[in-house]
Amino acid sequence: MSEPALVALRKASFSYEDGPPVLSGLDFEVREGRTLALLGRNGSGKTTLMRLLSGGLRPDAGELTLRGRPVAYDRKGLTRLRTTVQLVVQDPDDQLFAASVAQDVSFGPLNLGLPDAEVRARVDEALTALDIGHLADRPTHLLSYGQRKRTAIAGAVAMRPEVLVLDEPTAGLDPDGRERLLATLGGLCEGGTTVVMATHDVDLALLWADDAALLTPDGVRTGPASAMLARTDLLHRAGLRLPWGIAVERLLRARGLVSGAAAGPRTPEELAALAHAHADGPGPAPTAGA
Ligand SMILES: Nc1ncnc2c1ncn2[C@@H]1O[C@H](COP(=O)(O)OP(=O)(O)OP(=O)(O)O)[C@@H](O)[C@H]1O
Ligand SMILES: [Mg+2]
Repeated sequence: MSEPALVALRKASFSYEDGPPVLSGLDFEVREGRTLALLGRNGSGKTTLMRLLSGGLRPDAGELTLRGRPVAYDRKGLTRLRTTVQLVVQDPDDQLFAASVAQDVSFGPLNLGLPDAEVRARVDEALTALDIGHLADRPTHLLSYGQRKRTAIAGAVAMRPEVLVLDEPTAGLDPDGRERLLATLGGLCEGGTTVVMATHDVDLALLWADDAALLTPDGVRTGPASAMLARTDLLHRAGLRLPWGIAVERLLRARGLVSGAAAGPRTPEELAALAHAHADGPGPAPTAGA
């Protein structure tokens, strides 16, 4: 039998007070060591699902499990959940509240009652991971949006969670900031953190995630990102479009330029290399963006 999922929702339903059901009978699993992108249209319930996973909301029916065991919503159970799963909300201003970056990032570890030296070590580690060590003493209200996002993520990383759940972490970042954040998250994954990300960006999901979960009105469907993000029917139901990489791969397959089990190019650079390999006669290598 396979290992139980690190964290999972089983037949979970949730409605906000007096509202219609947002999620009904939902089965959702986060598998250890796999990066997972959660996608769906505005209002489909991504944020709600993430808050259920991190214990901020409690399902009306069904259950949340940690390594197969149901989570108890008492003090002990919730502490165990919060040291395992950390949520970073979409808007950093909903998360940051302390006067300085270092104070904000130290809040979680201090709250766990850890000794000062351990708290300092975790704060340093988190600031370094997010590349914001130079901002440690900066007042949070003077930070740029991207810096506030990184600070919010550092606060979660300082808890050394097994699962880091990020609600649209790249929204509002410039292209370089986005690349740097994805590299940082890649580093955390290599270090053993399981990362779950809600995003509307199908191209990012295809490039970055091992698995993709699509929230549709019929529930959530999860599988390998390259297969799920090629499902035009599901994408349509989830209010999404075909990723660039899949569209290009289809075109190239139709022309016989990609065949067999090989995946198509996923970046402009890979497309340029493929075009160069198939170019007639000698010539300079085409460069992306040229
Ligand atoms: N605090 C709340 N009280 C009542 N209804 C809410 C609350 N938060 C969200 N909802 C409703 O629940 C549904 C799902 O919202 P949710 O924020 O989970 O969607 P989402 O997929 O994260 O959307 P987006 O892509 O816009 O962030 C929506 O219909 C929304 O109006
Ligand atoms: Mg949301």
